[in-house]
Amino acid sequence: MVGTMAQNWTPDSWKAREARHLPSYDDAAALAEAEQTLASYPPLVFAGEARALKAELAEVANGEAFLLQGGDCAESFAEFHPNNIRDTFRVILQMAVVMTFAGKLPVVKVGRMAGQFAKPRSSDTETQDDVTLPSYFGDNVNGIEFDAAARTNDPQRMIRAYSQAAATLNLLRAFAGGGYANLRQVHQWTLDFMGRSPWADKFGEMADRISEALDFMEACGVDPATVPQLQGTSFYTSHEALLLPYEQAMARRDSLTGDWYDTSAHMVWIGDRTRFENSAHVEFARGIGNPLGMKCGPSLEPDALLKLLDTLNPAREPGRITLISRFGHDKVEAGLPPLVRAVKREGHPVVWSCDPMHGNVVKSESGFKTRPFDRILNEVRGFFAVHRAEGTHAGGIHVEMTGQDVTECVGGAVAITDEALGDRYHTHCDPRLNAAQSIELAFLVAEQLQAETAERQANAA
Ligand code: PEP
Ligand code: CO
Repeated sequence: MVGTMAQNWTPDSWKAREARHLPSYDDAAALAEAEQTLASYPPLVFAGEARALKAELAEVANGEAFLLQGGDCAESFAEFHPNNIRDTFRVILQMAVVMTFAGKLPVVKVGRMAGQFAKPRSSDTETQDDVTLPSYFGDNVNGIEFDAAARTNDPQRMIRAYSQAAATLNLLRAFAGGGYANLRQVHQWTLDFMGRSPWADKFGEMADRISEALDFMEACGVDPATVPQLQGTSFYTSHEALLLPYEQAMARRDSLTGDWYDTSAHMVWIGDRTRFENSAHVEFARGIGNPLGMKCGPSLEPDALLKLLDTLNPAREPGRITLISRFGHDKVEAGLPPLVRAVKREGHPVVWSCDPMHGNVVKSESGFKTRPFDRILNEVRGFFAVHRAEGTHAGGIHVEMTGQDVTECVGGAVAITDEALGDRYHTHCDPRLNAAQSIELAFLVAEQLQAETAERQANAA
């Protein structure tokens, strides 16, 4: 089979471009050694899996499915625990069930998990009292503790990140295929502390109806135990491909097609701060066969977006590109339409997804970085409204969330107050939705999807 490889590309061709937000390492030999070690390790994912995700995303691009992408802002070595992985996984499953059942569309599930370590930072340094140190760039680069030793970039951290990603992915694969995700378990996925949220009751009612539907199928002679779609689920991984030495070391050539894939995750994305012209990150992404995400913030002009799409998807392959808009609750309705129109006019097949997190960060009075839940919901509403008006498919959401009962985003049905933020504020970077807030958001998305479907049916009639 002949691949569709990018022209004039090599895994290190990004080095000739402008690289922003990359750490520098004092010891070049230590970096080279870590890169060689990684390059000799097994791939974390296979090319065929990345292609399977691309095929599922092609259905999203076509308006026939919905993408749910979620997980930590930054995974950390400290929070690495099977219960954390399980809890995030099951909240994603719950959200997906809500959207599938109420929204009547298949949901493609992608975790910001098993590799989401590196963070772009607005400032290279951080000052506390009189001391200035390098910023924290994610656990695969340096440590979050505010001392000179922890803040020193250490290439060996990439090896530890790889190991953690491998173990996380192994558990996720087991959860997805080993019985945990069986729809018969739908009641068991509810977390104890969800009990305080009115949305837990709604979820319970829905779970009853799903169980009844399964009983009905069984009574009709269809044994759910023999239907693979009810026994397990497909679950994919993703992260921002920011730390290019790591991503390059994980690039492998697929023996079947001869194409290069970044085997660190099924899908990788380019951040809002690294999608400029002549960017090293765009150059790296252009040559790998994985499905790609790209963040689209207020500074992105339609012409620049079209150029990027021509670079990243010259063959206009559906499922290749997911555009993740992150404008902010008050900017999405004015900022998104020009991009949607340009992409539609040029006929680029893309998935449009909404990140309602990164444009809605505020500093609370208590001093914590937070995101008001109302603004998150409003950005999602605005995103759906834009796509309804433009006649395009609102294809997905991209959220920072966790299965833990954290207090990081203010608001929600079980209202997190400003004063309560300090109670369980554990994030290693940006504030995440907790389990109850995530489910509440899923019900809003389902409602919006229903409206989209109703409108499409009315137009077709
Ligand atoms: C992120 O997704 O964690 C992130 C940094 O987002 P953005 O690139 O949109 O700012
Ligand atoms: Co973030």
